[in-house]
Amino acid sequence: MKNKKQFVKILGVGSYVPEKVVTNDDLSKIVDTSDEWIRTRTGIRERRIAAADQTTSDLCVCAARKAMENANVGVDDIDLILTGTITSDVILPSTSVFVQTKLGLKNIPCFDYNVACSGLQYGIEIARSLIESQRYRNILLICGDKLSVITDWQDRSTCVLFGDGAGAIVLSATENEEENSIIDVLLGANGEHSELVILPAGGSREPASEKTISERKHFMKMAGRDLFREAVKIMGNCAQEILGRNNMSVDDIDFLITHQANLRIIDAVRERLDVPLEKVCVTIDKYGNTSASSCIIALDNLIRNGKVVRESKVLTVGFGAGLTWGAAILKF
Ligand code: UT7
Repeated sequence: MKNKKQFVKILGVGSYVPEKVVTNDDLSKIVDTSDEWIRTRTGIRERRIAAADQTTSDLCVCAARKAMENANVGVDDIDLILTGTITSDVILPSTSVFVQTKLGLKNIPCFDYNVACSGLQYGIEIARSLIESQRYRNILLICGDKLSVITDWQDRSTCVLFGDGAGAIVLSATENEEENSIIDVLLGANGEHSELVILPAGGSREPASEKTISERKHFMKMAGRDLFREAVKIMGNCAQEILGRNNMSVDDIDFLITHQANLRIIDAVRERLDVPLEKVCVTIDKYGNTSASSCIIALDNLIRNGKVVRESKVLTVGFGAGLTWGAAILKF
């Protein structure tokens, strides 16, 4: 029987990055690049790279354990796992089932979704809808990627950008509207730009073959300049639209967390929205672009540093391959 309207509370956030630090100088030893170019064009100083035997689900499990600890929930409390990833452990089955087993959870539904770097915003919308439907009470949302395995380490225009990492959030049902954490979510996609970031081979369009391997088509390809333009335009529009439809302005939010793809993109979005520098979270210098986990890692950093506290309002905006995009206004 359905009870009163369910609201959704963020109970806990956690993140994980692998131990190994790779600096720009390290990369300048394998491709024709320099610390100066990478820092000035992207804002990245270093990134974390997972160990050879660490899978995406291993990264996700580390982040999930922290989120569950911070949420003070045990394995028996979680009733669904969803994982946003573009680097699943294997193509079949989902990464979520490996996470389930490693966490010691049994029989609960698990699934992955693939929206690249907009994973946090899409995941929040899916989890929120499932909780509001009153079918689930505690959802473990994870975004994690081992991007180093789909990065072409011979291509200087992409390999300097990415890092490995994972973030997780426990979202729970509450009947108390005061505790509601999700003020609004806005999502979008445009498949006409699907070629701007793509991993061309290994799917049904071009199955793996010696030819696809020799053509390096199992690595991410990116039209950097076009993406840059789209990222600034779309994240700016998205942020303005969600604030507008909630009768809010940047003065009403405490922090802006955009997808961490390039410091120049973050700056351009910040300037367009006229957000003061101190309200903008930047982690790209330390971790590079970690895909969907980048927004959760940034959020977790703000929480651990005591900046996001009870009643803080955070606007988070994502953008990625698809193209996909999303914005969410969260209240803590
Ligand atoms: O998460 C998915 C979303 N991804 C994004 O949003 C990425 C968006 N794009 C970007 O962040 C930037 O476009 C890049 C960082 C990828 C590239 O920066 P850019 O300022 O747009 O550089 P560019 O591609 O226009 O290249 C400028 C020059 C070129 O040389 P020429 O043709 O001017 O002689 C490149 O070959 O910089 C060269 N270049 C490099 N030089 C040293 C490209 N990569 C490197 C490098 N080191 N790593």
